[in-house]
This record gives sequence, C-alpha cells and structure tokens, in this order.
Amino acid sequence: MIRHVLITNDFPPKVGGIQAYLGEIYQRMDPESFMVITTAVPGCEDFDRGFGAPIVRLGKRLLPTPATIKTLRHMIASFSPQLVIYDPIFPIGAVGPALGLPYALIAHGAEVRVPAYVPVLRRQLQRTIRGSLGVVAAGGYPADEVRRLVADTKVMVVPPGIAVDRYAPVAEHDRTRLRRSWMSHPDDQLILFVSRLVPRKGADTLLRAAAQLDPRLKTEIHVVGDGRDWSRLRRLALGVSHPVVFHGSLPEAAKIELYQAADLFVFPARDRWLGIEREGFGIVILEAQACGTPAIIGSSGGTREALSPTTGHLLRAGGVDELAAVLGGVLARPAQLTLHRSETSAYVRTHFDYDRLGKAYEESLHNLVNG
Ligand code: GDD
Repeated sequence: MIRHVLITNDFPPKVGGIQAYLGEIYQRMDPESFMVITTAVPGCEDFDRGFGAPIVRLGKRLLPTPATIKTLRHMIASFSPQLVIYDPIFPIGAVGPALGLPYALIAHGAEVRVPAYVPVLRRQLQRTIRGSLGVVAAGGYPADEVRRLVADTKVMVVPPGIAVDRYAPVAEHDRTRLRRSWMSHPDDQLILFVSRLVPRKGADTLLRAAAQLDPRLKTEIHVVGDGRDWSRLRRLALGVSHPVVFHGSLPEAAKIELYQAADLFVFPARDRWLGIEREGFGIVILEAQACGTPAIIGSSGGTREALSPTTGHLLRAGGVDELAAVLGGVLARPAQLTLHRSETSAYVRTHFDYDRLGKAYEESLHNLVNG
C-alpha cells in the first residue's frame, strides 16, 4: 500500500473518460491509503459522502499557479504521503517539480500530444516528466507519446477498463424487452454511437455513411451524448432516410440498456489537425463490447487496443464511403451479428476487468516508489 495523494481536475461525479478511469480504479483501492484533491462540481457532496476516502474540492479548476502550489503544500503536509500523483500531466502536472515531493503522472494521450507541438510547452512537459518517478499510461498509445518526449521515462501501462458487473450482456428475453422500449421498429438493426459529440469521435462520419445506405436496409441509428457538434449533427441527420434518434446525455443505466439492446456499435474516431489531435483509447468501445455488441471503429491513437480482434472491425482509412460499404455488408446479413455476442463480451471480461486493472495500478505505484 503506497500512501499517496491524487491531484486531478477530472474526478467523478463529473462525466468523461479520465473521470471514469480514476473513479473505477480509486473505488477499488484501500481508502486508508490515499486522499484526492480535485475540483467542485454539481452533486459532488453526495458522491464524496459515499466515497470512503477523503476528497478535498478546491474551486472550479486547478491550475499550476503559485497560489495553488502554496495551498496544495499546506493540505498535503498533514497527510505525509510517500507519493503525489497528478492526472493529467498537463497542465496540473507542472505542480510536481515545484512541490518538492516524489511524484508520478498519469497520461491519457491528448494532454501530452497537443501541447508538445508548442516548443515552450514541450519543454515544460519534458521537465515535468523528467522530474517524476515515472508515468502510468492509460494504454499503449499514451505510453508511446510519453516516451517520444522523454525516451528513458519509466512507463507502466494500465489501460482503461470496465466494471464487468454493470456492463454485461442480458438474456435474450430481456434484450427483446429493451429493444421494444428503445426502438420504434424492434426487429430492425440498432446501430449505436455513444460519446461526447466532438468532431474527433466521428458521429458525423456515421451519419454521412448512413445517408448512403440502401433505404431498403432495416436499421435505426441512435446517438447518445452531448457536445458542441450537436446542431451540426442534427442537420446531417436530415439527409439520412433511416430513423436517427438523438438521446442527448443519458443517465448511466439508460446508456447501458442501449449498449445491451444494440446490434452494432459504430465509433469512427479519426485524427484531426494533421494528426495532432487523436483519440487516447476509446473507453466506449470497451463498454459496447462488454455488453455483447460488436464494434466497427476508426483508427486513431489507441482505438485499436480496445477492439476485439475476432469480432470487431477496424476501418482502414475511416472515410464515409468505406464505412457505408462495411455497414451495407453487415446489415445485409443481420443474423451474423447475434452469433458473436458472448465472444465479444468475453474478450472485454478477460482483458479489461477493472478488478484486475485496479490491482495492476497499485502494483505500478509500488514499482514506481520502490524501483
Ligand atoms: N452516462 C453517460 N451519458 N455517459 C456518457 C455520455 C452520456 O451522454 N457521453 C459520454 N459518456 C461516457 C462514456 O460512456 C465513457 O464512459 C466516458 O463518458 C468517456 O467518453 P468519451 O467522451 O468517449 O471519452 P473522453 O474523450 O472523455 O475520454 C478520454 O480519456 C479516456 C480515458 O483515458 C479519451 O482519450 C478516451 O479515448 C479515453 O478512453
């Protein structure tokens, strides 16, 4: 057990990939072994009461300013940690060298890759990484990004995972019930997209490809999530002849029902800005597959690490025409989709169970502190 402090801007009940990663891992840790310093968000009082370990919430955003450093130094002193962990590396990781305590960093991808293109920020990132005991990388892709900045950094890979008790397939009669409650035509094929609605995640590619589908194919498309692309995507959906349902941001339980009801999960994530912006991993790919739904995904950053090698489909170039052709082929043989549901979910249970990854995370901390 490594006594440590986690300092992060991204902790539940805020929704998002980093929040889900930290929330699941830290729920599984000995609450005596750590404290969390993070930001205040609506609903955090109830969350914190039920959490077990101490959580301190400081304002809306933690930035590496002299005032923040002074406050953190004061709060951490009485806890006497062996280690301080910063997530993400940029910008809050810059506190690490200033605080003067042994520290480690958690990397997800974009927060390392994007600032590294600006020379002054690149040097700051390198200083932050060099001063640390090492980095826990949420996947092979962020691990590579960190090594590109500082080649000899100690990097331990602990990918995002799944709470397999909550994300699991349901029996066929329950699935039929879910399809009746979510779909207007439950015998059609349900194509699902879940994510924040930002261009990198590729919901626009899905809708453009859907507009090319043969209108005789029986399918409906469901989009879960909210974000700045909302209005643009609504406009694109007008060109699709099949039903498109925008759910907006759904509660966790409803989102899981849709993963369980769906026939196909489509996540055509793509690189942007000549590859400067990439997807870190793609936790939603794991979520869908854990519920038995096979995935068709775009190749960006670490997405392929999440895909079942036997039941998933990785798009080669990831363009609209390619996706339309793949979807057309799959939807023409709908019976194939139900054949692989248990194999799809078994892949995630075997490789990405948070019970196992939580232990791997703790071992990584031991390794970083004890060498
Ligand atoms: N309940 C609910 N409702 N959850 C949602 C919704 C919604 O409307 N929209 C997104 N989520 C959840 C997803 O189900 C997933 O658990 C989480 O938010 C992350 O979703 P994304 O939007 O796809 O990812 P991100 O960009 O915040 O996450 C980043 O970090 C992850 C962890 O390292 C990305 O780099 C991911 O690729 C990476 O896996």
